[in-house]
Amino acid sequence: MSPRISSRIAAIAESATLAVDAKAKALKAAGRPVIGFGAGEPDFPTPDYIVNAAIGAAAVVSNHRYTPTSGLPELRTAIVNKTKRDSNYDITVDQVLVTNGGKQAVYQAFATIVDVGDEVLLPAPYWTTYPECVKLAGGIPVEVFADESANYLVSVEQLEAARTPKTKVLLFCSPSNPTGSVYSPAQVKAIAEWALKNNIWIISDEIYEHLLYDGATAPSIPVLVPELAEHVIILNGVAKTYAMTGWRVGWMIGPKDVIKAATNLQSHLSSNVSNVSQRAAIAALTGDLVAVHAMGEAFNRRRKLIVGLLNEIPGFECPTPQGAFYVYPSVKGVLGKTIRGKTPTTSAELATLILEEVEVAAVPGEAFGPSGYLRFSYALSDEDIVEGIGRIKKLITEG
Ligand SMILES: Cc1ncc(COP(=O)(O)O)c(C=O)c1O
Repeated sequence: MSPRISSRIAAIAESATLAVDAKAKALKAAGRPVIGFGAGEPDFPTPDYIVNAAIGAAAVVSNHRYTPTSGLPELRTAIVNKTKRDSNYDITVDQVLVTNGGKQAVYQAFATIVDVGDEVLLPAPYWTTYPECVKLAGGIPVEVFADESANYLVSVEQLEAARTPKTKVLLFCSPSNPTGSVYSPAQVKAIAEWALKNNIWIISDEIYEHLLYDGATAPSIPVLVPELAEHVIILNGVAKTYAMTGWRVGWMIGPKDVIKAATNLQSHLSSNVSNVSQRAAIAALTGDLVAVHAMGEAFNRRRKLIVGLLNEIPGFECPTPQGAFYVYPSVKGVLGKTIRGKTPTTSAELATLILEEVEVAAVPGEAFGPSGYLRFSYALSDEDIVEGIGRIKKLITEG
């Protein structure tokens, strides 16, 4: 008898980040004082001017209808203008496809350019969704790991060592989820030039582009190496920048033939993104960045707070990230120690122990590559950060 679930879909792992978040939320709903560092979303409400645009849009009958798969023309134009404003990258409307969140853009980018047997270089630690999308497209994810001593940033030498005749794509994400690390412009340029020389595509995930600290910058790859533009797909969205994770608006930018092919795929998958959400995204992208900078200031304060607190825990080693809203300490110094009668030997076991014993949720490194790490999102209040990391410190130091 053939299996009930196809082998392709059965092979997909549950999103570990969403699973941890769901577990923490369930405990919270049951009245437990859980502190969740698992979620990958800002804790702020969407700014009012964006919400109001959506409220107005809900009453307009044309927004009740199907619209073009590729997105509302006004939104695609807003994305063209925003890309010029924020990245100084000149593109045309037919290089833009509006997607149901950045996640759909990730899926469609791999589905559009990866063939069966193609290898995709995946700098690790990587966002948990990438390898699943590569595999669904028939590709082979090839992990290239950089640890805390390298600030989790891979070098050209490492990429070159992993390259084979089957290498088609490099996934690039800076600022990074899960580490918050940011490549310097010189590193980005070196990687892009290496890709150009070796005929390798780059899928560049820019979703955290506005969340940068300590003067860090995140230049867009085709601006640094314009000759690569025909082989670059940029992924982006409003979720992280404007606290709009629930609205589900993202986009792909790429060469026209790629965008056309990806649009064909989306036309059979999900058609147009909700028009009310697209109208909200237009308000976000055509407005200023004042609210974004205010959120960024709060994140910056919390970043310093959490890095300081984590580095006080014996056995934790936390580099200071320059972007996004995650920190990624190594917890290898704790593994193998006995805590409340249990001896975790992997970060997954340690995360379970921490959740069970002191009701604090963090995502184990296994979700993003090698064991030995925990990801903490610091998109939560200063008080919760102090309380949550304090509980872990007490657990680890007192056993
Ligand atoms: C690196 C990265 N890319 C893309 C996304 C997709 O975001 P969304 O689908 O909410 O727009 C996320 C969300 O967690 C992310 O962390």
